[in-house]
Amino acid sequence: MKYYVLTLFPEMIEQGLGTSILGRAQAQGKISLKTVNIRDFSENKHGHVDDYPYGGGAGMVMQPGPVYRACEAVEAEIGRRARVLYMTPQGRVFNQKMAEELAKENELIFLCGHYEGIDERVLEQKVTDCVSVGDYVLTGGELPAMVMIDCISRLVPGVLNNDHSAEVESFYDNLLEYPQYTRPEEFMGMRVPDVLLSGHHANIERWRREQSIQRTFTRRPDLLPAARLSLQEQKYLASLKEKAQPENTLEEEGGHSARTSQEGVPHSPSALS
Ligand code: ADE
Repeated sequence: MKYYVLTLFPEMIEQGLGTSILGRAQAQGKISLKTVNIRDFSENKHGHVDDYPYGGGAGMVMQPGPVYRACEAVEAEIGRRARVLYMTPQGRVFNQKMAEELAKENELIFLCGHYEGIDERVLEQKVTDCVSVGDYVLTGGELPAMVMIDCISRLVPGVLNNDHSAEVESFYDNLLEYPQYTRPEEFMGMRVPDVLLSGHHANIERWRREQSIQRTFTRRPDLLPAARLSLQEQKYLASLKEKAQPENTLEEEGGHSARTSQEGVPHSPSALS
C-alpha cells in the first residue's frame, strides 16, 4: 500500500506515523508513506496558499491552484487514477468496513485541508471520496488522515505480526473484543477467570465469544443487528435481553451507566455450553 498525503504540515504526518508498528511496516516496505507539502506548489512569491473567502466571512480558504498542482504531481508519479480522499467533517463517517474496502487499493491519496476549507472547484475536480472521522470538528485533516492510515494499514498483510489478530479484535463480525488478562493470576484480590487457566481450548473459545456478545450488548447494542451469530448464540443474546429487561426499565427512568451491572456479574461457567 502506498499512501500520499497532501498537507501543509508534512512533519506532523511523518512524526505521527513514523514510530511503532507503522514505522516498522514502512521500514519493511509493507507500506510506504509520502507527504507532499502543498506550499511547495504555491506560485506566490511569499509561498501563500490561502486567501480571503469571496462573499466575506471569517477565516481563510485554501486556494485551488496549489492543491490542484500538488494532486497532479502525485497522480503523475502514480501513473494512473487513484482515489483522492478529502478529510472533512462533511464526509461519510469512517468505519471498519470502509477501512476494509480501502485496504484493497494499491495507492491512496489523502487531502488535508486547513483554515476554513479548500476552494470548492478543486474539490470538484480531484476528490473521489469525502471522509469524516466523526461528528466533531478538528483544526485540520492531518489527524483524520493519520487515523485512517493507521486503521487501514493494520489490514495490510504483514503489517501486524500475527495476521489473525486483525480479525479477532473489536469489530470483526461486528462484535466487540472479549476481555484480556495476563499475569499475575491474582491482582488486588481479583482473579483471572478460571476458564482461561483451564487449557480447555473449546471452552475458552466459547467463553470469549460469550463475553464478546455480552459486551456488545451492554456497550454497543447498535452493532448487534449486523453481528453474525449462531443459533445457540442468538439464544444466549435473547437470554441477556430477558435478564436486562428490568434494568432497562430502571435506566429509562433515570440512571445511565456505560458499564452496566451485566458486566459486573462474576465470570460464570459458559452459558453457551
Ligand atoms: N477536518 C476537520 N474535522 C474533521 C473530521 N471530523 N473528519 C475529517 N476531517 C476533518
